[in-house]
Amino acid sequence: MPIHDFERYPLTFGPSPIHPLERLTQHLGGARIWAKREDCNSGLAFGGNKTRKLEYIVPDVLAQGADTLVSIGGIQSNHTRQVAAVAAKLGLRCRLVQEKWVDWDDPVNDKVGNILLSRIMGADVRLDPSGFDIGIRSSWDEAITDVEKAGGKPYGIPAGASEHHLGGLGFANWAYEVAEQERTLGVFFDTIVVCTVTGSTHAGMVAGFAALEDAGGRPRRVLGIDASATLDKTRDQVARIARHTAGLIGLDRDLRDDEITVLEGWAGDLYGIPVESTIEAIRLSGRLEGMIIDPVYEGKSMAGLIDLTTSGEITAASNVLYAHLGGQPALNAYSGIFG
Ligand SMILES: Cc1ncc(COP(=O)(O)O)c(C=O)c1O
Repeated sequence: MPIHDFERYPLTFGPSPIHPLERLTQHLGGARIWAKREDCNSGLAFGGNKTRKLEYIVPDVLAQGADTLVSIGGIQSNHTRQVAAVAAKLGLRCRLVQEKWVDWDDPVNDKVGNILLSRIMGADVRLDPSGFDIGIRSSWDEAITDVEKAGGKPYGIPAGASEHHLGGLGFANWAYEVAEQERTLGVFFDTIVVCTVTGSTHAGMVAGFAALEDAGGRPRRVLGIDASATLDKTRDQVARIARHTAGLIGLDRDLRDDEITVLEGWAGDLYGIPVESTIEAIRLSGRLEGMIIDPVYEGKSMAGLIDLTTSGEITAASNVLYAHLGGQPALNAYSGIFG
């Protein structure tokens, strides 16, 4: 079924803005760099990439008559903060499992930033000592059972909404939105740079742009930047979700392996731990553009963009679209690195 025929519950303000990063472009001396701002896309608790994914999941939540959203992430998960915001907006309860995905030695790590916002929005936040994993977690299954036992009607949303069968649609639609904005701006983005961890953001884009290309659009590269140092798992997850989403939106061919690119080199050794290139990318974006990015995701994808541009791997003739997926509230839990 074409993407525009899927039911969508509007949570965003409309298309997220696209703007050129003139000073960053000049500084790097290569391709022209633009940003599409998922951090400015809604009025829901600072927005971010999950808001767009949830637009396609909420109709199913409402159809099932659920009264509690149950989700999971790390302690500083942006995803759980956005689920809490959507629950508040819909008048539903929210139960969150926050696992210890990151061993980050900051005394306020479980008190500030995303987790603070989720608590403010009324979510029932439970901490869990388990470590990082992008797949389905037993703690999440247990939370769903818990809600049921207490007489509630839970609706489970997995980490990053990625293992949800509709989780890729939000960013398949993003691709169509970009194509529309290109017509207005008079520009063609031949290269998209996106951070990838649980996979459905990147996967949705791959499916959406493949469908656009098959409908006569120009080919382009979607470069996923690994931010969790679990390359094989991430690549498999992105490929699986991209193929599933492509099927949903009616692509009548298999995606080619060369359409699914996950690049490594900027994650460091661990999810959630910034490395020197991450911190440099955060400083550069802030000082040249007043654009704030985070140390877990966007700092790593921006570090990738910087290297790919300066090395000429992305050529000087390119127009690059950097997908800014949000995530700034987590900065509060990392204040030590800028102290
Ligand atoms: C700010 C930010 N950027 C990037 C990502 C990666 O997106 P995905 O999990 O869909 O790969 C996430 C979530 O995991 C995020 O919160």
